[in-house]
Order: sequence, then C-alpha cells, then structure tokens
Amino acid sequence: MLNTALIGAGGFGYCHLLALEKLISQQKIALKAVCDVNPCFRQELEAKGIAFFTDYRELLSTVPNLDYITISTPIPTHSEIAAACLAYGAHVLLEKPPAILPEEFARLTAAQTASGKSCAINYTMTADLAFLKLVQLLKNGELGRIHSITGTGLYKRYQSYYSGSPWLGQISYKDYPLRDGTINNPLSHLLNNMLLLAAASGSGRPVSAEAELYRVYPITGEDTSCLRILTEAGTRLLFYATLCSPEQTPARIEISGSQGNAVWQYPGYLQTDAGQDSYPAEENPTDKIHDNMCQFLLNGTPLFCPLSSCQNTVLVSDAAFASAKEIQTIPDTFIKGYQENGEHGRELIGIQDLVYSAATKQALFSEMSLPWAVSGQKILL
Ligand SMILES: NC(=O)c1ccc[n+]([C@@H]2O[C@H](COP(=O)([O-])OP(=O)(O)OC[C@H]3O[C@@H](n4cnc5c(N)ncnc54)[C@H](O)[C@@H]3O)[C@@H](O)[C@H]2O)c1
Repeated sequence: MLNTALIGAGGFGYCHLLALEKLISQQKIALKAVCDVNPCFRQELEAKGIAFFTDYRELLSTVPNLDYITISTPIPTHSEIAAACLAYGAHVLLEKPPAILPEEFARLTAAQTASGKSCAINYTMTADLAFLKLVQLLKNGELGRIHSITGTGLYKRYQSYYSGSPWLGQISYKDYPLRDGTINNPLSHLLNNMLLLAAASGSGRPVSAEAELYRVYPITGEDTSCLRILTEAGTRLLFYATLCSPEQTPARIEISGSQGNAVWQYPGYLQTDAGQDSYPAEENPTDKIHDNMCQFLLNGTPLFCPLSSCQNTVLVSDAAFASAKEIQTIPDTFIKGYQENGEHGRELIGIQDLVYSAATKQALFSEMSLPWAVSGQKILL
C-alpha cells in the first residue's frame, strides 16, 4: 500500500481526489493528507481520518513516509511546491505544465536529480491508448522518415471560463511570467504530444521556432496561436490552436511519413494506412496517470510522462513567446460576439477554415493574406 497526499484539492484537484478515492477502494493507496489554501472538502476529508492542512510546508513537516505527492495547484506555484516535495523525499505527480520558463524547468530538474526521486507530469493525453500505439509505431519506424507533424486544437471557451481562477488568461500573475493561453494551458497537451511523437520518430530536437500569438477575448494572455517548428532531421511541426472556435473539435495530430501517414485524435482514435483503432473514452482520464504512478512505484513500469520528457515543450513554448514578441489584439471587425446557454462568447470569424487551409499549406496565419495577422521572428533553439 502506497502512502500519498494531495496538494490543491479544489478546481481540477477534484479529478485527482476522485482518482485517489478509486485507488483507496482498490486498496492500492492510503490518502494520508490533503492541503489547500482554501478549506475545500476539509470536513469530509477529516471525517475520513485524512489530515487537512492549509500550508503545504506544514503538511511536509508533519506527515512522514509519503511515497508520492500529487500537486494540482495554480501554475505559478508548481516548481516551488514540487521541489519542496522532492526534497522531502517523495515522488511527485505534478499538474501540467511543469514550468513556464526554461530556467525554472532547469531548477526543478536539478531538484529532482538531487532528490533521487521521480517526477511525473499530468499531461493527460500521454496516457491515451491510441497515442501510446502511435508512439510505438514511430519508434518502430513504421511510417518511415517523418516529413511533418501537424496538430490542430479548435476549442470553444465562453467568457465565464476566465472567471474560473484569477490567473486564467493572464500574461503574468503576481510577478510570475505566467503566459497563460493555448500554448501553456488547455492545448499544451497537444503541443507536448506532438513533440513526444517527434522524439519517438527519431526526428531529433527542435532547432527553430516561429510563432504568432493573438487574443480575441479581453485578456492579457493569448487565446489563439500558431507555431512552426523545425527539428534537427528536418521534420516540420505545425501547431494551430484557438479557444475561440464556433465549435469544440477534438485535439488532432496528422503525421506524414515517407512510408505512411497517421491521424490521431483525442480521445482514443488512431487511423493509419493499415486501418483504424478506437478506444473508449475514460470517465476520468486522470485515473490512468495515478495508476501509472502506482505501477511505476510498485513494479518499475515506465512513467507515461516523466519531467525530463517535457523539456522540449518548455523550450518551444518559451521560443514561441520570444518569436511573437507581443500578443496581437484582433480587431472587433473580425470577431463575432454571441450568447447561448446563458453564456457570452467570442468567435474568431472564419477560424476553422483558416486553420484547415493554413495546415494544408504548412503556413502561419501571417502567410495567409489576413489583415489582422502579424509575423514573428524565427528563433534558433
Ligand atoms: N491535466 C488536465 O487535464 C488539467 C485540466 C485543468 C487544469 N489542469 C491543471 O491543474 C492545475 C490547477 O488548475 P485549477 O484550474 O484547478 O486551479 P485553481 O486556481 O482552481 O487552483 C486549484 C486549487 O489549488 C488551491 N491552491 C492555490 N494555491 C495553493 C497553494 N499554494 N497551496 C495549496 N493549495 C493551493 C486553490 O485554493 C484551489 O483549490 C493547473 O496546473 C492546471 O494547468 C490540468
């Protein structure tokens, strides 16, 4: 039986609580303590004999022998809390993204190395069965030399999304360079999976990145982006993301190789020249990340997403902000405001067709003759 604790129980932390409860019922773990700066679930947890803290440092100094600690707190707190948990001597399951700046990522990596413990990142899409199958196909070289990896994520978020937490949609938060938006938050899963596929295919590390960042909502961060990345072996990665689509469409990756093509779609869909596979969607995808952590600790099963595998994602995200320099506000003429289900939303007019035609041409938005698009600078990595 593994001893665990959870830091950050509200918001997305509830999905971790559900995953942990499942493991408790399977007698795989004991949840010894929970910490949240707000006393959410305190009474229910204490009634079950689970200690509750409002300061993670008090949890670490009070509760001994924790095997792994889950951290689901806001992004600006990730690296500090994770480093403290590693120094305590526990393995860590940390929410994505592990860090925003490369130097912060390097400090967290150093803390992990010094501790001798492991740190897994909850990039949930890395646990998808269809994705894992695609990784294996690429490792086996079954698609030949990879020409391109194109990711599209057309999401729809209402204005109310930004009232979920004070840091959502912010370029910085309390002096922390948060850069919240498609690249570092909802679609960081897609970017991370694209870079993991490039690594699995032997395409080498990213060597350059060009990016454009835009905002449709009245926020300081970005809600629409495109990126073109080149790897050492000449593979092109194209990433197109928005939170201002008229419809929510699944995150999707198309791969073109010298010996075949593949399409992966989240959750659970893979199409190759040999046929299609589809796997049922998980009710709570975070269950699989916790299962993986337990299997890793009990049997040495490899982690789906160890900290080290996220380095390219952090480097490319940082390069994207350096490339774009500024986030461009798209003028109201190109935006449609709407109301539905009692919600207010903003749609970037024509975004779906734009993304599909830009992806076909491997072009950035500024190369599509648009009045609002502004090119970025090529950044060498
Ligand atoms: N993997 C996924 O699919 C997925 C989905 C949504 C969010 N997330 C990630 O989950 C994390 C949390 O996001 P959220 O929207 O729940 O954030 P949030 O702002 O709602 O905060 C989550 C909880 O952490 C608590 N908290 C804040 N600071 C704390 C601290 N110093 N110590 C202890 N508790 C603290 C808050 O009170 C809150 O209950 C983020 O990293 C986000 O990127 C992941």
